[in-house]
This record gives sequence, structure tokens and C-alpha cells, in this order.
Amino acid sequence: MKKIIVAIDGYAGTGKSTQAKSLAKYFGCVHVDSGAMYRAVTYFGQQQTTDGSIDIKLLIDSLPQISIDFELTKNGQQTFLNDENITDLIRQSKVNDKVSDVASIHEIRSFLVDIQKEMGSSKGVIMDGRDIGTIVFPEADYKFFLTASPKIRAQRRYEEQQKKGIIETLEEVLANITARDHQDSTRIVTPLKKAKDAIEIDVSYMSIDDVFNVMIENIVES
Ligand code: DC
Repeated sequence: MKKIIVAIDGYAGTGKSTQAKSLAKYFGCVHVDSGAMYRAVTYFGQQQTTDGSIDIKLLIDSLPQISIDFELTKNGQQTFLNDENITDLIRQSKVNDKVSDVASIHEIRSFLVDIQKEMGSSKGVIMDGRDIGTIVFPEADYKFFLTASPKIRAQRRYEEQQKKGIIETLEEVLANITARDHQDSTRIVTPLKKAKDAIEIDVSYMSIDDVFNVMIENIVES
């Protein structure tokens, strides 16, 4: 199998992680969900205060104490924060609501980007996020940028949350997605944007398998 770096960026709820997971399995590579890393730091920040608010200065000073790991188990990929399994905890609305604020802080981004670059140093990584093709791996072998209409993304996220037993209305999911899109695309530090050389795929009316096949075709043909 080829040792490749694939960057998958795009908006929330476009299925980036699902595709990254399938590609990692196909190529026998590691999958890194960089959004889970921003979520882990957000969760860490919320645990530092008694009322769950985030003290930005305290969080920045504590970054060296944070260690994030991924482990592939029979229950799928699990995320660990300092050895605590936080896979489900970081999908709660409490984290959803604050993660874009945390992701807009320069010190936090550079802390995580350094770790992400290190994860790809021996190649063989499929990483999904918002700045993977532009900042983390501008030299990635393949870059994809996924888009879809906000309504379709909200519907998908809503169904996923329901399966996980997380109670949120479709309106709440749509409001969170729209707010995060806005914040992620307009933040001053490395906003979400398509890399010039990324292949854009509008997944609005495509099945998960269709999107996967388009990606594989692009990788195999090149
Ligand atoms: O992919 P996700 O929805 O789990 O990402 C959570 C948040 O983290 C998202 O609102 C934007 C931010 N993020 C980012 O700024 N850069 C990345 N590489 C990945 C995620």
C-alpha cells in the first residue's frame, strides 16, 4: 500500500470523518480527526473551572499538560485525553457550543498544528479538519474539500446525534452548524478555506459510497 498523506477539509456535517475513516482502512493508514483534537482541548478547558466556563489564559498556560491520543478498537476509533476516554464526551452540545471559540485562539491552533504535523511525519495519514490542506499539510499528496447545503448537513448531524442518544432538535443542530460555519470561515487565524489545489466535492445529493468512490478514483488515477 502507498504511504500517502490525504487532507480532507470542509464544513461541519459533510461526512469528512466518515470518509477519512474509510480511506484509512482502504490504504492501511492512520486516521486523524483533527476536529476531535480541538474538541478535546475545549473539554479540558471546561474541566478546569467549577462552572464549566473556559479561562482562556489558564487553558493556554496548561497546554503542555495536554496529551491527545487515538486508538482503534472494536468500537471504532476512540479519543483519549491524558488517558481518559473522551470519545462521547466531546460530542456533547456543551462542547459543540464552545469549540469554535477555542479553535480561533492562535496559541491553541499552533499547539495542535505542531502535533498534527508530527503525526504525518512518517506519512501514511488521512487527516480531516478545516486547515489540513492549507496549513498542516500544504504538501499533502491529495486534498479534498467537502461542501453541502446547511440544511442537509444539519439533517445528517441530527440523525447521528439521535443514534448516539444525544437530545437536540433539528433547529438546534442547524443553528449550531450555521454559527460554527460562520465563525470557522471568518476567524482571523487561519480561517476555513479551500486549498487552491483541493478537489471540491458537493456531497449534498451523494451517498457515502459515492463520495468514497470519487475520492478513490482521484487518488488511483493520479
Ligand atoms: O470537525 P468538527 O466539527 O469535529 O470540528 C470541531 C471544531 O473544531 C470546528 O467547529 C472547527 C474546529 N476545527 C478547526 O478549526 N480546525 C481543524 N483542523 C479541525 C476543526
